[in-house]
Amino acid sequence: TDLSKIRNFSIIAHIDHGKSTLADRLIQRTGGLTDREMSSQVLDNMDIEKERGITIKAQTVRLEWTAADGETYTLNLMDTPGHVDFAYEVSRSLAACEGALLVVDAAQGVEAQTLANVYQSIEHDHEIVPVINKIDLPSAEPDKVKAEIEDIIGLAADDAVLASAKSGIGIDEVLQAVVDRIPPPKGDRDAPLKAMLVDSWYDPYLGVVILIRVIDGSIRKGQMVKFMAGGTQHLVDRVGAFRPKIENLPELGPGEIGFITAQIKDISQTRVGDTITDVKRPAPAPLAGFKEVQPVVFCGLFPVDAADFEKLRDSIHKLRLNDASFSFEMETSAALGFGFRCGFLGLLHLEIIQERLTREYDLDLITTAPSVVYKIHLSKSKEEGAKTIELHNPADMPDPNRIDTIEEPWIEATIYVPDEYLGAILKLCQDRRGIQKDLTYVGGRAQLRYELPLNEVVFDFYDRLKSISRGYASFDYHQIGHREGDLVKMSILVNAEPVDALSMIVHRASAETRGRGMCERLKDLIPRHLFKIPIQAAIGGKVIARETIAALRKDVTAKCYGGDISRKKKLLEKQKEGKKRMREYGSVQIPQEAFIAALRMG
Ligand code: GTP
Repeated sequence: TDLSKIRNFSIIAHIDHGKSTLADRLIQRTGGLTDREMSSQVLDNMDIEKERGITIKAQTVRLEWTAADGETYTLNLMDTPGHVDFAYEVSRSLAACEGALLVVDAAQGVEAQTLANVYQSIEHDHEIVPVINKIDLPSAEPDKVKAEIEDIIGLAADDAVLASAKSGIGIDEVLQAVVDRIPPPKGDRDAPLKAMLVDSWYDPYLGVVILIRVIDGSIRKGQMVKFMAGGTQHLVDRVGAFRPKIENLPELGPGEIGFITAQIKDISQTRVGDTITDVKRPAPAPLAGFKEVQPVVFCGLFPVDAADFEKLRDSIHKLRLNDASFSFEMETSAALGFGFRCGFLGLLHLEIIQERLTREYDLDLITTAPSVVYKIHLSKSKEEGAKTIELHNPADMPDPNRIDTIEEPWIEATIYVPDEYLGAILKLCQDRRGIQKDLTYVGGRAQLRYELPLNEVVFDFYDRLKSISRGYASFDYHQIGHREGDLVKMSILVNAEPVDALSMIVHRASAETRGRGMCERLKDLIPRHLFKIPIQAAIGGKVIARETIAALRKDVTAKCYGGDISRKKKLLEKQKEGKKRMREYGSVQIPQEAFIAALRMG
């Protein structure tokens, strides 16, 4: 294909501003699908994505559009994940494009994620075309939003396209703007093959499918290629593009985006950002900026019913086929039995995996408290000398006497919030050990920059932020490295037995509050037994909080069962069923729900 007739672009937007709806409209307008095929959103093709309305995996669609000049253009629309957890994937897909449509909701205006995504796009030297969406809404204020785009982002918005993806207004104008304003790709057809691995996923029919952007040279069926970072070689057995249905192509040339398959069984061989080159005539150097993605949040996943362990293992392996960024290893817990310690890119990633296991694989799971990665500097011991370890699991915390210092990861967060909720948000950040860096007003809203320990964010920061601001605050963050902190391991003891799944690493100053909160919640969550149950939070051997669950009085149960035998039977059966969902700690039974609820910070 003639390079001057190609346009590669992505759509960047804050969640819910209409990215998927607009993408669908563009596909529909360019004739990729019939109306019936359009009935469900095409780009978000996983159930969970549909339900939550978020985009997880990047997808690309090739569109053909005859522009005002009468020429037909190939437009590659790349869908990018919108959430911070997938920042690296976003960044790589952006690197495969020359421009972006910046979709801003005409009623909501610019949000924190809009900003974060725009900055990334600008870093990739993109031409950015603002699209003000949802102009059909009575509450739409396109002029105000234009001013916001200019003031906050610093992008000229005079010629922003006004659109309604829902009603189909402005769709041709969007396509024409892509052709007119986004530059065509550059590339050298005669140079050795250099293609970027943008994304990969497992397809039951095709095997591992790899989305690529060809920079130089070309790639054909039958070619032996090499993955430069991965170090593996593969025979290309299919080359094609999505329209959005699969279409096989003889080759992909410079500037083109499409997919290949190469009989790859294991997705871990395909690393996003890797460079693909020809084995016989390799490129002299790989593309810049390749990075190995590292999980930042860890937690344990255990089956509620120990008999489900095999099923959990199979399911985790299957999930992993489609998500190379999710890591796991077996873990055994004194209380929870066999399970897995899993690593995630962030909290949303954790939730998605957990939900897919529960829903698609029908598993009842216990999730332990999420933990970040701590760097623990150990003092000199006779055997090993001084050394540093990375800690993913509070249960593996070394003896405090051996620890010199502990470092924890920090983030810089940007928060947008309407004035009226500012006070409450400031307090939340302060309570979470936040350091305020900046507070400015833009377009009637406060823009806050805070440095926060990631540890304080992984529990429920985002939920709290949303509930405090009635959903109006928006939040975005990036990691800024590790810092030393006064951190301790807090254990929870139920009836004097430590419950390893509930132990967590906390800042010393907030240990007591956290501990007290946990004990109070557990007191309400654990049903009464025939004996008194002490619940304690402790650091080392020192108890810092305590609650007691009073004993159940026998006569009370007797009274409520009355003399009705059949009712009593039913009750007993129900109890039996309930027991399956219980975990035993010594002689105490803790319902599964108690874990989940207890781990949600109040
Ligand atoms: P993520 O995938 O989560 O990033 O969301 P998104 O930006 O893709 O948003 P999506 O397209 O799912 O749209 C969010 C909501 O806005 C949906 O309920 C859409 O129906 C609605 N919506 C999208 N475009 C328009 C529009 O032009 N007008 C109106 N009134 N609603 C729209």
